[in-house]
Amino acid sequence: MTASRTVLVTGGAGFIGSNFIRHLLARYDYHIINLDKLTYAGNLDNLRDVEDDPRYRFVQGDVCDAAVVTELMNEASAVVNFAAESHVDRSIEDAGVFIQTQVYGAFVLLEAARQAPSLDRFLHISTDEVYGHSIGDQRFTEEDPFRPRSPYAAAKAGGELQCHAFGETYGLPIVVARPANNIGPYQYPEKAIPLFVTNALDDEPLPLYGEGLQVRDRLFVDDHCEALDLLLHSGEIGEAYNISAGNERANTEVAETILEMLEKPKSLIRFVEDRPGHDQRYAMSSRKLEALGWSPRHDYEAAMEKTVAWYRDHREWWEKIKSGEYREYYERMYGQRLAESKPFES
Ligand code: NAD
Ligand code: TYD
Repeated sequence: MTASRTVLVTGGAGFIGSNFIRHLLARYDYHIINLDKLTYAGNLDNLRDVEDDPRYRFVQGDVCDAAVVTELMNEASAVVNFAAESHVDRSIEDAGVFIQTQVYGAFVLLEAARQAPSLDRFLHISTDEVYGHSIGDQRFTEEDPFRPRSPYAAAKAGGELQCHAFGETYGLPIVVARPANNIGPYQYPEKAIPLFVTNALDDEPLPLYGEGLQVRDRLFVDDHCEALDLLLHSGEIGEAYNISAGNERANTEVAETILEMLEKPKSLIRFVEDRPGHDQRYAMSSRKLEALGWSPRHDYEAAMEKTVAWYRDHREWWEKIKSGEYREYYERMYGQRLAESKPFES
């Protein structure tokens, strides 16, 4: 890609999108347009350090709005679609907005991409959750079928399937990423790891769903950004790529790691009523992506150390979030559950 390229990033004010914009600006002389609706999860504080960069432009808008999407797409040489409602628990409460953004929003972007004069890549961010949960030692490859089990995952699957269909039907230059659970700076503290770390820092309980035995692969966000950089430049058109770190750990082990790192007591762990339809385990093979030359730089310990240290050192970032709408959400989601919770016995 040359210096004159313009990359349209959607959902760039969220966790992964903001890290990816910072990554691109540090490595390339590209122009970046960040189209973000600024939902509860969108936060311009995530990009304070680059907001005055002349190569960066923020546009507040919705990916479902064809007029704004078409205008920006016409300027773009590539698009990276992060925009989504991203929290499984919220999708269980109310799935409508997930369908709207993930499915209809993807359609609006794809329609605009069909008409765009200079677009040569459409990188769509999907998720490992489209495969459903893995049983026993099963490790998903890109050929495995979609069996989404939450409203969030089903909406993500719907968005991704449209990308493949538009690629086949109209020859759009689609590449799809299916990343594992990311951790790192700027993650909204409704997600397990920032919720656990920030609660521990405040000596508040760490609410583990069920028996805390569910397994997730913890991909450090910088490693994810490197993988997306590779896919943006060298991913094969029409292909989907798993992005996994091989850092699979049960939630109880993760909570214990956080408490050890912060020198807080294990008694902060509380077992609460489980999430309905809770996926037991996510596990994928990244061999296809590794064949392009990517491998993660952070093992479990390194990823957790950097993540825990960032929240410890950026209290002002998360305290601002936790004092707003979040309080109401937390009370609704955890109030009753914590009142009925069970203690941890090591
Ligand atoms: P996030 O919730 O932190 O950020 C999402 C961003 O999208 C926010 O800035 C929000 O304002 C914006 N947005 C939401 N609806 C929009 C709309 N209609 N129009 C424009 N902008 C809108 O999410 P994240 O964790 O950064 O996830 C980014 C992407 O990666 C999502 O597509 C998510 O499904 C996918 N993903 C995330 C993970 C993870 O572990 N976080 C793992 C796999 C896949
Ligand atoms: P989460 O961060 O919501 O990601 P996802 O559900 O998309 O994988 O949750 C990660 C894991 O942590 C998942 O197994 C659910 C569990 N979890 C808890 O045990 N307690 C919590 O308060 C949250 C938010 C999640």
